[in-house]
Amino acid sequence: MLAAGLGTRMRSERAKVLHELGGRPLVQHPLRAVAPLAPARVALVVGHQADAVARAAEATGVAGLRVVLQADQRGTGHAVLCARDTFRGWDADVLILYGDVPLIRTQTLRRLLDAHRAEEAALSLLTLYLDDATGYGRIIRDASGRVCRIVEHRDASPDELAITEVNPGIYCVRAGLLDALLDRLRPDNAQGELYLTDVVQLAAQAGERLASVRVDDPDEVSGVNTRAELARLEARVRRETVGRWMDAGVTFEDPETAYVGSEVEIGRDTVIGPNVTLRGRTRIGSGCRLDGTSHLTDTVVGDRVHLRFACVTEEAEIGDDAIVGPFARLRPGTRLGARVHVGNFVETKKAVLGAGTKANHLTYLGDCEIGADTNVGAGTITCNYDGFEKHRTEIGDRVQIGSDTQLVAPVRVGDDAYVAAGTTVTKDVPAGDLAVSRAPMRLVSGWVERFRARKRRA
Ligand code: UD1
Ligand code: MG
Repeated sequence: MLAAGLGTRMRSERAKVLHELGGRPLVQHPLRAVAPLAPARVALVVGHQADAVARAAEATGVAGLRVVLQADQRGTGHAVLCARDTFRGWDADVLILYGDVPLIRTQTLRRLLDAHRAEEAALSLLTLYLDDATGYGRIIRDASGRVCRIVEHRDASPDELAITEVNPGIYCVRAGLLDALLDRLRPDNAQGELYLTDVVQLAAQAGERLASVRVDDPDEVSGVNTRAELARLEARVRRETVGRWMDAGVTFEDPETAYVGSEVEIGRDTVIGPNVTLRGRTRIGSGCRLDGTSHLTDTVVGDRVHLRFACVTEEAEIGDDAIVGPFARLRPGTRLGARVHVGNFVETKKAVLGAGTKANHLTYLGDCEIGADTNVGAGTITCNYDGFEKHRTEIGDRVQIGSDTQLVAPVRVGDDAYVAAGTTVTKDVPAGDLAVSRAPMRLVSGWVERFRARKRRA
């Protein structure tokens, strides 16, 4: 797999194959397509940011991966030369493909291998018909219709330029033949590079059998060279993913604005409103409703959950029949039990809320565990941080936390306790007790009239 190219047209500090498509680095896509073919070895030819590209590739877990460095990019033939040690002296077929062609399907690669073997070919390649073939190598066939040569766009004659059958750059070659022909590549072309495509002509001249397999979908073999091309493929991936979930029984009110990552799962009869992004290992149960404009990452949502407008969640769990939002933020370590209500402008972090507990308004719950059927009043804050460490708050079952309560952690509130509105809880509240800390209220009779009169005189 060739992935050493600079990617100049991305105008990026990052190597091209590290740019993401569908939430994954480009290079991971073709590696994942190759994996089911169970190749004995995979050589990934890298150049720019070799270490980072290697790490991204290794993250796919594809077996037998070897990363090969091509320090100077002297052409596709030179790139394969750099990987030669991985197939030298080997009685096998070498599949050659690109790291920046993300939509290639396993099925298509398998078709290429099947044709290669069925026709007992020494070299086989994919071909594609394009109305506008600008930039591509053109496929030249002999009188009997066999592929005999590829001519690069820059080296092509006007007649050759008129050919619409092009080379997507994906080949299968007998290892021994490839090894032998690589030595015969010369940089005698418009770009002064070693062209891998010259292997085709050399094989044909040597009387080897060549086979070709046609692909119909240009996107499948399209390389990413610019940010615009990346965005176009992204839109396609997004449409296909959303389409698959619609087929599986999920309603999208506006499929055009739904972003669903490839590892996400969604249950039947869930309805997803506009502008929803589901990333990472997010799993949503069945019969849920997501009103819209929400961003969920690595979040597990139970069944029949109602996620109201504009929620942001990350590494959170939401139990069955819970109601969350609008405008709720669930941060990592949040676990909401069944039927929990978390309302508007509530932020949670490392917060476990038992079944039926409610925190409906303007609240921060961090590093806390709350039992079942407790009510957390508006404006409650767990004061969990002393500038050095985080401290825990524990609240029992059936507790009433009054509005505007501060819980200065570490602190515990026992089952069935009441905390009066406006209380600053600085010590543990035993089960069944009332905690109240309040300056006594005073009434100053007629004060407003006197105050205004004073101001008017001034
Ligand atoms: C190549 C083909 C052309 C084909 C086109 C399809 C050659 C000579 N030409 O042209 O027939 O139509 O692909 O896209 O092969 N790479 C390296 N090291 C290098 C050069 C390239 O790893 O030294 C990698 C690039 O990262 C890229 C791939 O090879 O993934 C193709 O390279 P690119 O320069 O884009 O080839 P093209 O000129 O487009
Ligand atoms: Mg190219």
